[in-house]
Amino acid sequence: MLEIDILAVVPGLLEGPFSHSILQRAADKNLLKVRVIDLRTFGIGTYHQIDDNAFGGGAGMVLMAQPLADAIRKLQAEGAYDEIIYLTPDGTTLNQSLANKLSLRSRLLLICGHYKGIDERIRQKFVTMEISIGDYVLSGGELAAAVLVDAIGRLIPGVLNDGSSALTDSFQDDMLAPPVYTRPADWEGMKVPDILLSGHEAKIEEWRYQQSLQRTMTRRPDILKDEEGI
Ligand code: ADE
Repeated sequence: MLEIDILAVVPGLLEGPFSHSILQRAADKNLLKVRVIDLRTFGIGTYHQIDDNAFGGGAGMVLMAQPLADAIRKLQAEGAYDEIIYLTPDGTTLNQSLANKLSLRSRLLLICGHYKGIDERIRQKFVTMEISIGDYVLSGGELAAAVLVDAIGRLIPGVLNDGSSALTDSFQDDMLAPPVYTRPADWEGMKVPDILLSGHEAKIEEWRYQQSLQRTMTRRPDILKDEEGI
């Protein structure tokens, strides 16, 4: 069982993603438990303030240290986290290997930034890992957190029906996935490669491997490992 708590500024953004399809199934099977916590409930004063101007001036607000610290400490009191992850464009870029590692943990806290980010002192004091989902800037960390939970959730052992399915994903062996086809075998004159209809398992596997290799060499040579021919 993997428990993921998400500390969010706009919790509404996370209402949809976890109640469908594979992640819902993971929750039903008690393999994944996602909880969204509204940072505003830890806000200061009548208006539940959570952000303020940046010292030194400049446009954009910064999430204040105190509401974040109060929230993190309250959640920590319920049990220690394996990692406290801040979603930020200046973090380590998410890849399959990182998703694999995180899917084996049992308790994670994800912190979603907003505006200009969170007070640096929270990063120093609590955050153990910083993750970006790509080189572009989102308006907040919530959608990045949803992407991270999806990538991790489907890798938890037992979540996917076909146990081997996650193993044949693109990136799982530093290779992109081969092309796939389903019925009909002839669609608008476009035919499925004969080999896939042959029933010859070893040949099909070799064909898929070659297709993966070719596709990776042309599209993403940067992810190929040395022994695979580059
Ligand atoms: N917050 C804003 N942009 C982000 C990104 N690219 N990855 C993770 N968190 C973010």
